[in-house]
Amino acid sequence: MQGMLEGKVAVITGAARGIGQATAFLFAKEGARLLLTDLDKGPLDECVSKIKSEFKTDVIGIQGNVTNEKDCEKVMKTASEKLGNGSIDILVNVAGITKDKFIHKMTLDDWNFIINVNLTGTFNCIKAASPFMRDAAKLEEEKTGKIKMRSVINISSISGTTGNAAQANYAASKMGIVGLTKTVAKEWARFNITCNAVAPGYIETRLTQVRKEGEDFGIPEKQRQIIMQLQKETGLAREAGQSDDIAKVILFFASDLSSFVTGQVLTVSGGLIGTI
Ligand SMILES: NC(=O)c1ccc[n+]([C@@H]2O[C@H](COP(=O)([O-])OP(=O)(O)OC[C@H]3O[C@@H](n4cnc5c(N)ncnc54)[C@H](O)[C@@H]3O)[C@@H](O)[C@H]2O)c1
Repeated sequence: MQGMLEGKVAVITGAARGIGQATAFLFAKEGARLLLTDLDKGPLDECVSKIKSEFKTDVIGIQGNVTNEKDCEKVMKTASEKLGNGSIDILVNVAGITKDKFIHKMTLDDWNFIINVNLTGTFNCIKAASPFMRDAAKLEEEKTGKIKMRSVINISSISGTTGNAAQANYAASKMGIVGLTKTVAKEWARFNITCNAVAPGYIETRLTQVRKEGEDFGIPEKQRQIIMQLQKETGLAREAGQSDDIAKVILFFASDLSSFVTGQVLTVSGGLIGTI
């Protein structure tokens, strides 16, 4: 049976773990040809070799930092040259991080760090993919009179759509992603490129583990328990959100099922109160 993304070329950032990794596995299962990128080489290489051994699709891993324009350009160029004949079909911007502090304790460096990774990183990747998505679509139209569907999927957060204490930097970066998503949707609709965002609620990954000494990310145990309790009492009657729950929605936005949907932000929180 044909996969939903059979033969499509997809770039996924932040693919070494969590939501990015789950998306990479689901896309591979659906027949996509993958370029995976992440800051952390070890976990990225592991993810690439697991996908290679489990699925019969092409997978390339490139270590890179989304805050670095040159890294982003290298990723997109390699994907289009080695997998896509000059074109990229799907870009999923998952790379992201937290550095939570109350605003009166947040330094300018804390603020800039998060805006830079989450928001500027997403911008850098879209900009670097532009020749292989927008320009490729334009060329296709000139040659054939038709343009196939392409898609950009960004990751916002319920923090971005509702705000969250101790996350001024993160919430601003994730709301920025909403503005970026809606703007790209308007600019690229003409080229049959959809651009949508997923706003996850609480998903069990490294980012939401109990914060360890010396690490930027993670959340205090007490706060984690409050969220879990709220989820249990107000959300869907099932276990906490997992990376696959988000990957499935990313697949929807990457596939033909959403070919007439653009500029949208979909909250995926299992009904956690305050988010719907
Ligand atoms: N887990 C949640 O509850 C939750 C909720 C809302 C939004 N999100 C968003 O989902 C996305 C994925 O997060 P996750 O929960 O899977 O976390 P995660 O830590 O498991 O995965 C994030 C990945 O991004 C990579 N990364 C970080 N900075 C990078 C950089 N500068 N360049 C390239 N790669 C970089 C990390 O190495 C990591 O592998 C993030 O954008 C996050 O903000 C997560």
